[in-house]
Amino acid sequence: MTARAPDDAPRRLEPWSLDEGADRVRALFAQSFEGEPEASVSAPGRLTIVGDHTDYSGGLTLATVTPHRTFVAARRRDDQAIRVVAARSEQVDGPGARWEGALGALEPGYEGWPSRVAGVLWALAERGYPIGGMDIAIDSCLPLGTGLGSSVALSAAVGRAADAVWGLALDTEAGAVELAEACWEAENTYVGFPCGRLDQHTVLRCEEGEAALLDFSEMPPHITRYPLYFHEYGLSLLLIDTGPRRDGWRDAYARRSRAAVRAADVLGLPSLRELKRDEALARVAALEDNATRIRARHIVSESMRVQATVAELSGLGPAHDRFTEIGTLMLASHQSLTADYRVSTPLLDLAVDTAFAAGALGARMAGAGFGGCVVALVRTNAIAQIADQVDAVLVSQGYPQPTFLEV
Ligand code: GLA
Repeated sequence: MTARAPDDAPRRLEPWSLDEGADRVRALFAQSFEGEPEASVSAPGRLTIVGDHTDYSGGLTLATVTPHRTFVAARRRDDQAIRVVAARSEQVDGPGARWEGALGALEPGYEGWPSRVAGVLWALAERGYPIGGMDIAIDSCLPLGTGLGSSVALSAAVGRAADAVWGLALDTEAGAVELAEACWEAENTYVGFPCGRLDQHTVLRCEEGEAALLDFSEMPPHITRYPLYFHEYGLSLLLIDTGPRRDGWRDAYARRSRAAVRAADVLGLPSLRELKRDEALARVAALEDNATRIRARHIVSESMRVQATVAELSGLGPAHDRFTEIGTLMLASHQSLTADYRVSTPLLDLAVDTAFAAGALGARMAGAGFGGCVVALVRTNAIAQIADQVDAVLVSQGYPQPTFLEV
């Protein structure tokens, strides 16, 4: 067991303001390429409140965005060259991550962070948008690879930069949908990761202070926005970043999405989206194969929890009851992701249990799982105490010190 040094306080990660992020990325651009950028833009991370592993089977999700964002500064070029410099990447911390390519020569299958830049430019070009070469600088205060949609924040910011410098007129609601679809195509076809559309449509269509209910039974997904007024009631979402997801998580994710298709096949349905009605859980319970049954049970019950959470958020009952119920739904979501969907880890379970024991109303893993972040609904004035306790328990059990973010 590793003991925590007494002066080693819990680590907090503060977001940059929009101005600070823009200044940083513009400075990186000027230092890396000659002259000034034409535009600087940004995109946030995605934080699921309830509703993970439902998007690729036509279910429901409720998510918001983080104040922590990825910033991009860019300038058009007269040729087809794409020159990219990143201040940070999963592999490199500190200026020095560089990549160069050419627009006409981009081909699916390239690995690593530059594929998130190249992929969205490739997808926009494939869709017929008149783009050319670009110089691009990237910086971010979003944790990378820990379940907050950092890959999609990067492609979304690069897509917004292409829009800004090439005048693609994507700066509208319809344009955001189009860009989200281009980012999804980039991830699925260019990068080769069979993800759903949760991250793309949240990052590009939801603003801070809103919760986005996305319904994936429609294509493109239908969005309903709700004000996320936790702060007005003295509540906050506290993120516990426990570090990177385990290696090979993408393969485990792909196996889950294939199981979702299999479950629908066995039930004779085009997709599990058909199972939103009352008989849903009964039909799933009748599935013979255990693995298929428990995966399907998560998918169906998680969408129901999303509906219940939205009902509490928009309900008129006493605030205390509604927030207590949302906390309970978050805990039930975590339990389902652990026991039925098997995407949690002992570390995430410990972070959830400790946050709850320390006073959180509810907590759950957020995102794909296999490591990464936990989100807890907490009283704002209890944040310090909860962070202290989670930090102490995780470190005392030999885990790395977590980082805390407030939303
Ligand atoms: C990842 C995927 C999303 C979604 C979540 C889990 O973030 O990219 O499409 O499936 O996992 O909800």
